[in-house]
Amino acid sequence: MSVRVAILISGSGSNMVALAQSMQGDHPARPCLVLSNRPDAAGLGRAQDMGIPTAVVDHRPFKGDRPGFEAALRAEIDKARPDLIALAGFMRVLTADFVRPYAGRILNIHPSLLPKYKGLDTHTRAIAAGDTEAGCTVHEVTPALDDGPILGQARVPVLRGDTAETLAARILPMEHQLYPLVLRRVAEGNRAPIMLP
Ligand code: GRF
Repeated sequence: MSVRVAILISGSGSNMVALAQSMQGDHPARPCLVLSNRPDAAGLGRAQDMGIPTAVVDHRPFKGDRPGFEAALRAEIDKARPDLIALAGFMRVLTADFVRPYAGRILNIHPSLLPKYKGLDTHTRAIAAGDTEAGCTVHEVTPALDDGPILGQARVPVLRGDTAETLAARILPMEHQLYPLVLRRVAEGNRAPIMLP
């Protein structure tokens, strides 16, 4: 019986593709759903090309009604009966009320070396701080933003003259390497952190 994984996206879905492509052969998990809060997310087409069921819960009709959005999100997710939920470029903040029933079963990838730079504009902040290294973190999602137990990190150097774009471009391939490694380990029941390189 495979571990069922729902993947939540908002955009290109490059992390979703990396995760889905990794879940083959003797991998204990399989993707059961790709869900986006944006109907125009390019990742939806990529998931459909891979034969993965997709869904959309557009957040815009729920403007000012976060509980309503999260109830619709939960209903769609629960239909797919996931064992794990992987946030992959999902750009909506999830409240404690949403996260709590899934405690320990939601993972997220964040483009910084947490606990540094929670929130947005992580690369700009790392460069402005003069950091010599940056990277990405896979962590368990808890009610506090970008704050849960760390399951993996990948480090890259910050180079002289780096912009947020050049740094993001150096980190993204590491995300695609790290997230599938962490997902497989978690699906195997092991939560020991993975540190790259
Ligand atoms: C990535 O930089 C990831 O760190 C952040 O969202 C960005 C886009 O991810 N969470 P994807 O290409 O949609 O997977």
